[in-house]
Amino acid sequence: MHKDLQEILISREDLAAGVKKLGEQITRDYAGRTVTLVGVLKGCTLFLADLARHIDLDTRLDFMMVSSYHGEHSTGVVRILLDLKESVEGSDVIIVEDIVDSGLTMQYMLQNMKTRLPRSVEVCTLLDKPSRRKAQVPIKYSAFSIPDKFVVGYGLDYNGIYRNLPYIGVLKESAIQGKN
Ligand code: IMP
Ligand code: MG
Repeated sequence: MHKDLQEILISREDLAAGVKKLGEQITRDYAGRTVTLVGVLKGCTLFLADLARHIDLDTRLDFMMVSSYHGEHSTGVVRILLDLKESVEGSDVIIVEDIVDSGLTMQYMLQNMKTRLPRSVEVCTLLDKPSRRKAQVPIKYSAFSIPDKFVVGYGLDYNGIYRNLPYIGVLKESAIQGKN
């Protein structure tokens, strides 16, 4: 385990099993269709790469990068830093996120995606932190529901670090304070 972590919340094996299950569910739900996975960078990367390998359908990949300004006086203002490469008009879109926390980022992503007139749009998140929700967003696919703890690994970062850890862990308080 990385020295900055207090515990491993989801092991490599549990991640693999959860992601496989989601991929198989998507494969069944979209049988005969082509899906467009829209990954929300950068947190989606490890999850999306593994998920895509469990989807047995014709699949397109595209990405967006957004920055959110949350914090105390949350307005849910989201800015697009990198936009889709291809049109998604008429497509079956699945937005792939690392975690839905307040839900404000996903609320924006959904509203934004709908203006592009896809045939359908659903949300697929690795982690769901329901206790912190400010905006109710419909989550069709979620691998793990977690308590209100700050987690890193498997794509999730703190100050840009820890994304490469192959498991999800809880950061030590000292690692948070020491780096602020
Ligand atoms: P939301 O808009 O509050 O739902 O926030 C979503 C984004 O916040 C995620 O895509 C993450 O980048 C970040 N985030 C929320 N909780 C955590 C966490 O526990 N660890 C790392 N990033 C987090
Ligand atoms: Mg993110």
